[in-house]
Amino acid sequence: MTEKLRIGVAGVGTVGASLVRILQQKHNELAERCGRAIEVVAVCARDKNKDRGCDLSNVEWFDSPDALAASDLIDVYVELIGGEDGVALSSVSIALDAGKHVVTANKALLAKHGVALATKAEATGCILNFEAAVAGGIPIIKTMREALTSNHVTRIYGILNGTCNYMLTRMENEGISFEDCLADAQRLGYAEADPTFDIEGNDTAHKLAILTSIAFGTLISTDNIYMEGITKITNADIEAAGELGYRIKLLGVAQRTASGIEQRVHPTMVKKGTPIAEISGVTNAVAIEADIVGQLVLSGPGAGGDATASAVSGDLCDIAKSGAGHQHAPALGKPVAQLEPYVRAKMRAHEGCYFIRLSVHDHSGAFASIANRMAQENISLQSIVQRKSEKDGDDESQQIILITHETNETSIKSALANIDGDGHLSAAAQMIRIES
Ligand code: NAP
Ligand code: HSE
Repeated sequence: MTEKLRIGVAGVGTVGASLVRILQQKHNELAERCGRAIEVVAVCARDKNKDRGCDLSNVEWFDSPDALAASDLIDVYVELIGGEDGVALSSVSIALDAGKHVVTANKALLAKHGVALATKAEATGCILNFEAAVAGGIPIIKTMREALTSNHVTRIYGILNGTCNYMLTRMENEGISFEDCLADAQRLGYAEADPTFDIEGNDTAHKLAILTSIAFGTLISTDNIYMEGITKITNADIEAAGELGYRIKLLGVAQRTASGIEQRVHPTMVKKGTPIAEISGVTNAVAIEADIVGQLVLSGPGAGGDATASAVSGDLCDIAKSGAGHQHAPALGKPVAQLEPYVRAKMRAHEGCYFIRLSVHDHSGAFASIANRMAQENISLQSIVQRKSEKDGDDESQQIILITHETNETSIKSALANIDGDGHLSAAAQMIRIES
């Protein structure tokens, strides 16, 4: 057996502590499978006195991620701190410059600096692995980067944020408030340090940017991704969607178009019974459409300590084996020089059906006026549901839920602006795209 692979883990929080436990518990089994032992020899976090539920007694402690990254004690630097810049960026750069392999779960870092870091890795002949950065425990990076090499991918989409899917599922099944669901997701270790990244869609956008690069062989870009999170989704929307046979999911979608790549993140209504609609809780699902394989859907736990650490340890096993003659794919699937420039397609107005929920003052003529505004935009309606809602001061408002037939976003937005201008709405209109 060759020499052991010495690991330095920076960040011993939800994912880092799980990783240390797994590598310790499975030490002998992994040594056998990889042909060499994988050993955590050093860790780094902020508070040395915190109980992390893992044994750090024989492990060197570092206060500085940069110092750990530069240390001769380690062969591989594992970054599990988080953040797109700061010590995550400086320490990963130091490790690669020092000729150390790097494993990270940090999608924010990769979405912003992935190309620069992959360039550094190539220059120093190091491996940069990041399976855990997208869809937690699902081996989507390896699948895209290696197993689907001979495919031409045309579309990749899915549920890429465990926190949001967990929240939407509990809101639907248990009627729990948005805030309480988010607090539980944080307690369970699913959410980002700043959970607005989850609920506003940034985290999905980061993952989509990384997937896009590997799927389509382009440079990474996040700046132009159309993004709407789930913060405006209410229990009333979920209930109304359910009554009409739909579920609401936060989807990330990237597809090739004639004018470039279209990328978008937004809540979407999907018909119950379809594969994506049935993905519940913290589970993620990624669907790939490609010329040879057709459609492939991978699903599994998208967040949480053990699921994520499973992906990180898989990356470490690959590095351990790489010393034994196994070839390793470039970080982004192709050498950086071969990545094409990213050309963004103008986001096509969604053409399809729409869910619209209106809170309408209970005045005579309101209903007819709304129908009239829709007709003016040639929007035909496949269903209208009207219900009384709670009193709003002296005013009694009605909830009107509309499902349109196929139309386009310009028409919908124009109709809603006119309805609002007519003074019928007691609250902002809710509009959710329906995925056919
Ligand atoms: P976490 O629980 O907040 O842990 C972060 C760790 O980083 C903590 O141990 C913290 O130290 C340490 N840290 C923070 N700032 C530091 C600094 N300046 N110097 C040294 N150590 C520092 O985060 P996590 O959930 O494990 O996530 C880690 C990374 O994995 C993030 O990039 C995240 O996006 C990614 N990720 C997470 C999940 C998930 O389900 N949680 C899934 C996929 C990817 P202290 O403990 O001393 O405060
Ligand atoms: N906060 C992220 C999520 C962690 O909920 O999906 C996994 O990337």
